[in-house]
Amino acid sequence: MTTRLPPRSGELIDRQRTVEFTFDGQSYTAHPGDTIASALVAAGVGVFSRSFKYHRPRGLLCCAGHCPNCLVQVGAEPSVRACTRPVEAGMAVHSQNAWPSLARDAMALTGLADRFLPVGFYYKAFVHPPALWPAYEKVLRHMAGLGRVDPDTPPGDDDKQYLHTDVAVVGAGPAGLSAARAAAEKGLRVLLLDDNPTLGGHLRYGPDHHQPVLEGLLAAVLADPRITVLTGTTVLGAFEENWLAAVGRTAGRQRTPVQDSRRVRRLRHRGHRAAASVRQQRPAGHHARQRRATPAAPLRRRAGHAGRGRDG
Ligand code: FES
Repeated sequence: MTTRLPPRSGELIDRQRTVEFTFDGQSYTAHPGDTIASALVAAGVGVFSRSFKYHRPRGLLCCAGHCPNCLVQVGAEPSVRACTRPVEAGMAVHSQNAWPSLARDAMALTGLADRFLPVGFYYKAFVHPPALWPAYEKVLRHMAGLGRVDPDTPPGDDDKQYLHTDVAVVGAGPAGLSAARAAAEKGLRVLLLDDNPTLGGHLRYGPDHHQPVLEGLLAAVLADPRITVLTGTTVLGAFEENWLAAVGRTAGRQRTPVQDSRRVRRLRHRGHRAAASVRQQRPAGHHARQRRATPAAPLRRRAGHAGRGRDG
């Protein structure tokens, strides 16, 4: 069964080509440009993980890398967010925190006793008698944690870079792109950073009439030599003396993240900094306060994933 949306203008996935990958040993087909999650959703997969405590089934929620619902193991790498990691040919993806399988998780039985298991009970329940702690510890260590760490995995290739600019713009949605362009037009050097692999923010998954706006902004920004774009780069904080700390997987204007390297950056700007972000989790209508409400932006992002490929 496939639930993939029909083609839309501006989509990033390449529907002419396919790649194969596996999820829990089962083969799936994706298009280059898909994330793991978009490919699985298109194939009809709705459950990606189990909740930490009661092992309740979890599907896509934010579609933006901001929640724990889509954590999966990719090869030796645990706790990868499926909604942001681009799928690659031959990728072996596994669910985590479920046994013996994601569909039939034995630990979900703990949910039957949820009324007797208040928040934090494990901090108080297993301290008496102290002599039994080694036994408790053995069981709890087996039950706790997400994913598997392979101690033989070679260390990653991390490096460090210092950058200097006049203006730093954090967030490359329409506001960030416009801010970067406006600063560059005044002759300032601009560093534009976004944690997504592509520029455009919500314009990527909005209605079709957003496309010309996006294309105009991208053309102006990417053609301007005063603007340096860093995608796949998360700004961790702003510090005194105009320093920003960022970590990313990409370099320069690349549109595809480099998965096997990571770069820690210290950025210094000359007193101009813009955080061009919007609310990510705007509630969907007046049902937002209800327990099962799904925020509106993720719904649009999810549609964007299935129809357009990666989030922007
Ligand atoms: S982080 Fe992937 S659905 Fe929230």
